[in-house]
Amino acid sequence: MTQTKTPLRVAVTGAAGQISYSLLFRIASGAMFGPEQPVILQLLEIPNEKAMKALEGVAMELDDCAFPLLRGLVLSDDPRVAFKDANWSLLVGAKPRGPGMERADLLKDNGKIFTVQGQIIDEVAAEDARVAVVGNPANTNCMIAASKARRLTPDRFTAMVRLDQNRAQAQLAKKAGVALTEVQSIFIYGNHSPTMFPAFAQATIGGKAAREVIGDDAWLQGEFCETVGKRGAAIIAARGLSSAASAANALVDHVHDLMTPGAIHSVAVKGATHYGFDANVWAGVPVRTTTPGSYEIIEGYAMDDFAKSKIAATNKELTDERAMVAELLGT
Ligand code: NAD
Ligand code: LMR
Repeated sequence: MTQTKTPLRVAVTGAAGQISYSLLFRIASGAMFGPEQPVILQLLEIPNEKAMKALEGVAMELDDCAFPLLRGLVLSDDPRVAFKDANWSLLVGAKPRGPGMERADLLKDNGKIFTVQGQIIDEVAAEDARVAVVGNPANTNCMIAASKARRLTPDRFTAMVRLDQNRAQAQLAKKAGVALTEVQSIFIYGNHSPTMFPAFAQATIGGKAAREVIGDDAWLQGEFCETVGKRGAAIIAARGLSSAASAANALVDHVHDLMTPGAIHSVAVKGATHYGFDANVWAGVPVRTTTPGSYEIIEGYAMDDFAKSKIAATNKELTDERAMVAELLGT
Protein backbone atom coordinates (compact mmCIF):
# COMPACT_ATOMS: atom_id res chain seq x y z
CA MET A 1 0.00 0.00 0.00
CA THR A 2 1.31 3.52 -0.75
CA GLN A 3 0.98 5.92 2.15
CA THR A 4 0.24 9.46 1.05
CA LYS A 5 -0.17 11.08 4.47
CA THR A 6 2.50 13.46 5.75
CA PRO A 7 4.65 11.60 8.29
CA LEU A 8 4.09 12.42 11.95
CA ARG A 9 7.22 13.34 13.86
CA VAL A 10 7.34 11.35 17.10
CA ALA A 11 10.03 12.21 19.64
CA VAL A 12 10.83 9.50 22.19
CA THR A 13 13.12 10.10 25.16
CA GLY A 14 14.98 7.30 26.92
CA ALA A 15 15.07 5.67 23.52
CA ALA A 16 17.75 3.12 24.42
CA GLY A 17 15.97 2.06 27.60
CA GLN A 18 13.87 -1.00 28.27
CA ILE A 19 10.40 0.52 27.66
CA SER A 20 11.54 1.99 24.37
CA TYR A 21 12.89 -1.36 23.26
CA SER A 22 9.26 -2.53 23.10
CA LEU A 23 7.70 0.82 22.24
CA LEU A 24 9.62 1.93 19.16
CA PHE A 25 8.83 -1.18 17.15
CA ARG A 26 5.12 -0.86 17.92
CA ILE A 27 5.08 2.78 16.80
CA ALA A 28 6.98 1.98 13.62
CA SER A 29 4.66 -0.92 12.82
CA GLY A 30 1.58 1.34 12.93
CA ALA A 31 0.08 0.21 16.24
CA MET A 32 0.03 3.72 17.70
CA PHE A 33 -1.11 5.91 14.78
CA GLY A 34 -2.73 3.37 12.49
CA PRO A 35 -1.74 1.42 9.39
CA GLU A 36 -1.83 4.40 7.03
CA GLN A 37 0.12 6.93 9.04
CA PRO A 38 3.86 7.14 8.31
CA VAL A 39 6.14 8.26 11.14
CA ILE A 40 9.58 9.75 11.65
CA LEU A 41 11.09 8.70 14.97
CA GLN A 42 13.23 11.32 16.72
CA LEU A 43 15.11 9.50 19.44
CA LEU A 44 16.72 11.18 22.44
CA GLU A 45 19.27 9.70 24.81
CA ILE A 46 21.69 11.17 27.33
CA PRO A 47 25.06 12.50 26.15
CA ASN A 48 26.92 9.37 27.15
CA GLU A 49 28.90 7.09 24.86
CA LYS A 50 27.35 3.88 26.14
CA ALA A 51 23.77 5.18 25.83
CA MET A 52 24.33 6.59 22.32
CA LYS A 53 26.01 3.36 21.20
CA ALA A 54 23.07 1.35 22.51
CA LEU A 55 20.73 3.72 20.65
CA GLU A 56 22.62 3.07 17.41
CA GLY A 57 22.00 -0.62 17.96
CA VAL A 58 18.26 -0.03 18.40
CA ALA A 59 18.26 2.04 15.21
CA MET A 60 19.97 -0.80 13.33
CA GLU A 61 17.22 -3.14 14.47
CA LEU A 62 14.52 -0.68 13.42
CA ASP A 63 16.14 -0.54 9.97
CA ASP A 64 16.25 -4.32 9.86
CA CYS A 65 12.51 -4.58 10.45
CA ALA A 66 11.92 -2.80 7.11
CA PHE A 67 8.76 -1.15 8.44
CA PRO A 68 6.97 0.51 5.49
CA LEU A 69 5.59 3.25 7.75
CA LEU A 70 8.97 4.28 9.16
CA ARG A 71 10.08 7.24 7.05
CA GLY A 72 13.04 8.46 9.04
CA LEU A 73 15.12 8.10 12.17
CA VAL A 74 16.86 10.91 14.02
CA LEU A 75 19.24 9.93 16.84
CA SER A 76 20.41 12.66 19.16
CA ASP A 77 21.62 13.56 22.62
CA ASP A 78 20.37 17.12 22.10
CA PRO A 79 16.73 17.78 23.10
CA ARG A 80 16.51 20.69 20.63
CA VAL A 81 17.17 18.26 17.80
CA ALA A 82 14.95 15.48 19.09
CA PHE A 83 11.92 17.69 19.83
CA LYS A 84 12.23 19.82 16.66
CA ASP A 85 8.81 20.00 14.97
CA ALA A 86 7.62 16.95 16.94
CA ASN A 87 3.87 16.34 16.73
CA TRP A 88 4.07 13.96 19.70
CA SER A 89 6.75 13.90 22.39
CA LEU A 90 6.76 10.71 24.44
CA LEU A 91 8.72 11.38 27.62
CA VAL A 92 9.88 7.96 28.76
CA GLY A 93 13.48 8.76 29.72
CA ALA A 94 14.01 8.89 33.47
CA LYS A 95 15.51 6.77 36.19
CA PRO A 96 13.27 3.80 37.05
CA ARG A 97 12.59 2.63 40.59
CA GLY A 98 14.68 -0.31 41.78
CA PRO A 99 13.73 -2.92 44.38
CA GLY A 100 12.82 -1.29 47.72
CA MET A 101 12.84 2.27 46.35
CA GLU A 102 9.92 4.61 46.90
CA ARG A 103 8.63 6.84 44.15
CA ALA A 104 9.37 9.89 46.28
CA ASP A 105 13.06 9.00 45.96
CA LEU A 106 12.77 9.71 42.25
CA LEU A 107 10.94 13.02 42.58
CA LYS A 108 13.80 15.46 42.67
CA ASP A 109 16.24 13.62 40.37
CA ASN A 110 13.76 12.94 37.62
CA GLY A 111 11.91 16.23 38.07
CA LYS A 112 14.89 18.19 36.79
CA ILE A 113 14.79 16.36 33.45
CA PHE A 114 11.24 17.57 32.87
CA THR A 115 11.92 21.26 33.51
CA VAL A 116 14.42 21.30 30.64
CA GLN A 117 12.36 19.13 28.32
CA GLY A 118 9.11 21.05 28.95
CA GLN A 119 10.81 24.31 28.06
CA ILE A 120 12.48 23.01 24.91
CA ILE A 121 9.36 21.24 23.63
CA ASP A 122 7.49 24.52 24.09
CA GLU A 123 10.14 26.30 22.02
CA VAL A 124 10.75 23.90 19.15
CA ALA A 125 7.95 21.32 18.80
CA ALA A 126 5.22 21.51 16.16
CA GLU A 127 2.21 23.83 16.30
CA ASP A 128 -0.05 20.88 17.20
CA ALA A 129 2.44 19.40 19.72
CA ARG A 130 1.15 16.86 22.22
CA VAL A 131 3.15 15.42 25.10
CA ALA A 132 2.69 12.13 26.97
CA VAL A 133 4.71 11.50 30.14
CA VAL A 134 5.66 8.00 31.30
CA GLY A 135 8.87 8.59 33.30
CA ASN A 136 8.08 8.43 37.01
CA PRO A 137 6.65 10.04 39.01
CA ALA A 138 4.68 10.54 35.82
CA ASN A 139 1.86 12.84 37.03
CA THR A 140 4.21 15.24 38.76
CA ASN A 141 6.80 15.17 35.99
CA CYS A 142 4.01 16.09 33.57
CA MET A 143 3.02 19.02 35.80
CA ILE A 144 6.66 20.17 35.87
CA ALA A 145 7.02 19.98 32.08
CA ALA A 146 3.74 21.84 31.52
CA SER A 147 4.73 24.53 34.01
CA LYS A 148 7.64 25.49 31.74
CA ALA A 149 5.48 25.96 28.66
CA ARG A 150 4.49 29.45 27.52
CA ARG A 151 3.10 28.58 24.08
CA LEU A 152 1.55 25.14 24.64
CA THR A 153 -1.49 25.06 26.92
CA PRO A 154 -1.68 22.56 29.84
CA ASP A 155 -4.18 20.32 28.01
CA ARG A 156 -1.39 19.38 25.56
CA PHE A 157 0.42 17.62 28.41
CA THR A 158 -0.92 14.26 29.61
CA ALA A 159 0.52 11.59 31.90
CA MET A 160 -0.04 7.87 31.56
CA VAL A 161 -2.36 5.94 33.88
CA ARG A 162 -3.40 3.54 31.14
CA LEU A 163 -1.19 0.75 32.44
CA ASP A 164 -3.22 0.91 35.65
CA GLN A 165 -6.49 0.80 33.71
CA ASN A 166 -5.29 -2.23 31.75
CA ARG A 167 -4.14 -3.92 34.96
CA ALA A 168 -7.52 -3.29 36.61
CA GLN A 169 -9.40 -4.62 33.60
CA ALA A 170 -7.30 -7.80 33.61
CA GLN A 171 -7.81 -8.38 37.36
CA LEU A 172 -11.60 -7.99 37.09
CA ALA A 173 -11.77 -10.35 34.11
CA LYS A 174 -9.75 -12.97 36.01
CA LYS A 175 -11.87 -12.72 39.14
CA ALA A 176 -15.12 -12.98 37.17
CA GLY A 177 -13.71 -15.73 34.92
CA VAL A 178 -14.74 -13.88 31.75
CA ALA A 179 -12.99 -12.69 28.59
CA LEU A 180 -11.18 -9.40 29.04
CA THR A 181 -13.42 -7.64 26.56
CA GLU A 182 -16.45 -8.29 28.80
CA VAL A 183 -15.00 -5.80 31.30
CA GLN A 184 -15.79 -2.20 30.40
CA SER A 185 -15.74 1.28 31.96
CA ILE A 186 -13.03 0.66 34.53
CA PHE A 187 -11.23 3.97 35.00
CA ILE A 188 -8.31 5.14 37.11
CA TYR A 189 -8.49 8.21 39.32
CA GLY A 190 -5.51 10.08 40.70
CA ASN A 191 -1.81 9.32 40.83
CA HIS A 192 0.14 6.59 39.04
CA SER A 193 1.14 5.16 42.41
CA PRO A 194 -0.30 2.80 45.03
CA THR A 195 -2.81 5.53 46.04
CA MET A 196 -4.54 5.42 42.65
CA PHE A 197 -8.21 4.50 42.71
CA PRO A 198 -9.60 1.99 40.18
CA ALA A 199 -13.26 3.02 40.34
CA PHE A 200 -14.95 -0.38 40.29
CA ALA A 201 -18.47 0.99 40.95
CA GLN A 202 -18.55 2.38 37.40
CA ALA A 203 -17.29 -0.80 35.76
CA THR A 204 -19.45 -3.32 33.96
CA ILE A 205 -18.90 -7.00 33.28
CA GLY A 206 -20.92 -8.48 30.43
CA GLY A 207 -23.10 -5.36 30.52
CA LYS A 208 -24.00 -5.71 34.25
CA ALA A 209 -22.57 -3.74 37.18
CA ALA A 210 -19.18 -5.28 38.06
CA ARG A 211 -20.09 -5.06 41.73
CA GLU A 212 -23.12 -7.29 41.17
CA VAL A 213 -21.18 -9.80 39.09
CA ILE A 214 -18.25 -10.00 41.52
CA GLY A 215 -20.58 -9.94 44.55
CA ASP A 216 -17.76 -9.24 46.98
CA ASP A 217 -17.30 -5.60 47.98
CA ALA A 218 -14.62 -6.52 50.51
CA TRP A 219 -12.50 -7.96 47.67
CA LEU A 220 -13.14 -4.93 45.45
CA GLN A 221 -12.28 -2.41 48.16
CA GLY A 222 -9.36 -4.42 49.49
CA GLU A 223 -7.43 -6.94 47.43
CA PHE A 224 -8.48 -5.55 44.05
CA CYS A 225 -7.43 -1.95 44.76
CA GLU A 226 -4.23 -3.15 46.42
CA THR A 227 -3.24 -5.53 43.62
CA VAL A 228 -3.73 -2.87 40.96
CA GLY A 229 -2.05 -0.14 43.03
CA LYS A 230 0.99 -2.24 43.90
CA ARG A 231 1.37 -4.08 40.61
CA GLY A 232 4.39 -1.98 39.60
CA ALA A 233 6.20 -2.95 42.80
CA ALA A 234 5.20 -6.63 42.39
CA ILE A 235 6.76 -6.65 38.92
CA ILE A 236 9.94 -5.00 40.20
CA ALA A 237 10.14 -7.60 42.97
CA ALA A 238 9.66 -10.47 40.50
CA ARG A 239 11.76 -9.23 37.57
CA GLY A 240 14.31 -7.10 39.38
CA LEU A 241 13.37 -4.45 36.80
CA SER A 242 10.31 -2.29 36.36
CA SER A 243 7.57 -3.19 33.91
CA ALA A 244 8.58 -2.51 30.33
CA ALA A 245 6.57 -4.34 27.64
CA SER A 246 3.28 -3.67 29.42
CA ALA A 247 4.24 -0.02 29.96
CA ALA A 248 5.07 0.35 26.25
CA ASN A 249 1.79 -1.34 25.35
CA ALA A 250 -0.12 1.05 27.61
CA LEU A 251 1.53 4.04 25.97
CA VAL A 252 0.48 2.72 22.58
CA ASP A 253 -3.09 2.55 23.94
CA HIS A 254 -2.84 6.00 25.57
CA VAL A 255 -1.77 7.80 22.39
CA HIS A 256 -3.87 5.66 20.06
CA ASP A 257 -7.02 6.47 22.04
CA LEU A 258 -6.12 10.16 22.28
CA MET A 259 -5.97 10.17 18.48
CA THR A 260 -9.32 8.36 18.15
CA PRO A 261 -12.41 10.60 18.51
CA GLY A 262 -15.04 8.98 20.73
CA ALA A 263 -12.58 6.81 22.68
CA ILE A 264 -13.22 6.82 26.44
CA HIS A 265 -10.17 6.04 28.53
CA SER A 266 -8.17 6.98 31.64
CA VAL A 267 -5.65 9.78 31.24
CA ALA A 268 -3.94 11.99 33.82
CA VAL A 269 -4.85 15.59 33.01
CA LYS A 270 -5.05 18.97 34.68
CA GLY A 271 -8.32 20.42 35.91
CA ALA A 272 -10.26 17.43 37.25
CA THR A 273 -11.73 19.62 39.99
CA HIS A 274 -15.20 18.17 39.47
CA TYR A 275 -13.98 14.99 41.16
CA GLY A 276 -12.31 16.94 43.98
CA PHE A 277 -8.77 17.13 42.60
CA ASP A 278 -6.64 20.21 43.17
CA ALA A 279 -6.80 22.50 40.14
CA ASN A 280 -3.03 22.42 39.66
CA VAL A 281 -2.21 18.71 39.71
CA TRP A 282 -2.40 16.13 36.93
CA ALA A 283 -4.85 13.41 38.02
CA GLY A 284 -6.10 10.29 36.27
CA VAL A 285 -9.77 10.58 35.24
CA PRO A 286 -11.94 9.22 32.43
CA VAL A 287 -11.75 11.39 29.31
CA ARG A 288 -13.51 11.29 25.96
CA THR A 289 -11.37 12.07 22.93
CA THR A 290 -13.08 14.85 20.95
CA THR A 291 -10.79 15.51 17.97
CA PRO A 292 -7.40 13.85 17.42
CA GLY A 293 -5.17 14.88 20.32
CA SER A 294 -7.93 16.71 22.24
CA TYR A 295 -10.29 15.47 24.94
CA GLU A 296 -12.87 16.41 27.54
CA ILE A 297 -13.09 15.11 31.09
CA ILE A 298 -16.15 12.90 31.65
CA GLU A 299 -17.78 14.37 34.72
CA GLY A 300 -20.93 12.31 35.01
CA TYR A 301 -19.81 9.56 37.39
CA ALA A 302 -21.22 9.70 40.94
CA MET A 303 -18.82 8.80 43.77
CA ASP A 304 -19.86 7.10 47.02
CA ASP A 305 -18.12 7.74 50.37
CA PHE A 306 -15.51 5.02 49.77
CA ALA A 307 -14.63 6.46 46.36
CA LYS A 308 -14.51 9.99 47.76
CA SER A 309 -12.09 8.93 50.51
CA LYS A 310 -9.83 7.15 47.98
CA ILE A 311 -9.85 10.22 45.73
CA ALA A 312 -9.04 12.48 48.68
CA ALA A 313 -6.04 10.29 49.57
CA THR A 314 -4.59 10.20 46.05
CA ASN A 315 -5.22 13.95 45.66
CA LYS A 316 -3.31 14.56 48.88
CA GLU A 317 -0.36 12.59 47.56
CA LEU A 318 -0.41 14.64 44.35
CA THR A 319 -0.51 17.95 46.23
CA ASP A 320 2.29 16.73 48.53
CA GLU A 321 4.39 15.85 45.48
CA ARG A 322 3.66 19.29 44.07
CA ALA A 323 4.88 20.87 47.30
CA MET A 324 8.07 18.76 47.15
CA VAL A 325 8.97 20.10 43.70
CA ALA A 326 7.86 23.70 44.33
CA GLU A 327 11.42 24.82 43.64
CA LEU A 328 11.32 23.30 40.14
CA LEU A 329 7.94 24.89 39.42
CA GLY A 330 9.14 28.29 40.52
CA THR A 331 6.17 28.61 42.90
P1 NAD B 1 15.53 2.41 31.60
O1 NAD B 1 16.50 2.77 32.68
O2 NAD B 1 15.61 1.07 30.98
O3 NAD B 1 15.61 3.48 30.45
C1 NAD B 1 15.57 4.84 30.71
C2 NAD B 1 16.42 5.48 29.63
O4 NAD B 1 16.25 6.89 29.75
C3 NAD B 1 17.92 5.20 29.77
O5 NAD B 1 18.40 4.68 28.53
C4 NAD B 1 18.52 6.56 30.10
O6 NAD B 1 19.81 6.74 29.53
C5 NAD B 1 17.49 7.48 29.46
N1 NAD B 1 17.46 8.83 30.02
C6 NAD B 1 17.66 9.23 31.30
N2 NAD B 1 17.59 10.56 31.38
C7 NAD B 1 17.32 11.02 30.15
C8 NAD B 1 17.15 12.31 29.61
N3 NAD B 1 17.26 13.41 30.35
N4 NAD B 1 16.89 12.42 28.28
C9 NAD B 1 16.79 11.32 27.51
N5 NAD B 1 16.97 10.07 27.95
C10 NAD B 1 17.22 9.92 29.26
O7 NAD B 1 14.07 2.69 32.21
P2 NAD B 1 12.66 2.16 31.67
O8 NAD B 1 12.40 0.85 32.31
O9 NAD B 1 12.60 2.30 30.21
O10 NAD B 1 11.68 3.19 32.41
C11 NAD B 1 11.66 4.56 32.06
C12 NAD B 1 10.76 5.32 33.03
O11 NAD B 1 9.40 4.90 32.90
C13 NAD B 1 11.10 5.14 34.51
O12 NAD B 1 10.98 6.39 35.17
C14 NAD B 1 10.02 4.19 34.99
O13 NAD B 1 9.81 4.30 36.39
C15 NAD B 1 8.85 4.68 34.21
N6 NAD B 1 7.69 3.79 34.11
C16 NAD B 1 6.46 4.36 34.12
C17 NAD B 1 5.33 3.58 33.99
C18 NAD B 1 3.96 4.21 33.99
O14 NAD B 1 2.96 3.47 33.95
N7 NAD B 1 3.82 5.52 34.03
C19 NAD B 1 5.45 2.20 33.88
C20 NAD B 1 6.73 1.63 33.86
C21 NAD B 1 7.85 2.44 33.98
C1 LMR C 1 4.81 0.44 37.01
O1 LMR C 1 3.69 0.80 37.35
O2 LMR C 1 5.06 -0.71 36.61
C2 LMR C 1 5.94 1.43 37.05
O3 LMR C 1 5.48 2.72 37.27
C3 LMR C 1 7.05 1.01 37.92
C4 LMR C 1 6.99 1.59 39.31
O4 LMR C 1 7.97 2.23 39.68
O5 LMR C 1 6.01 1.37 40.03
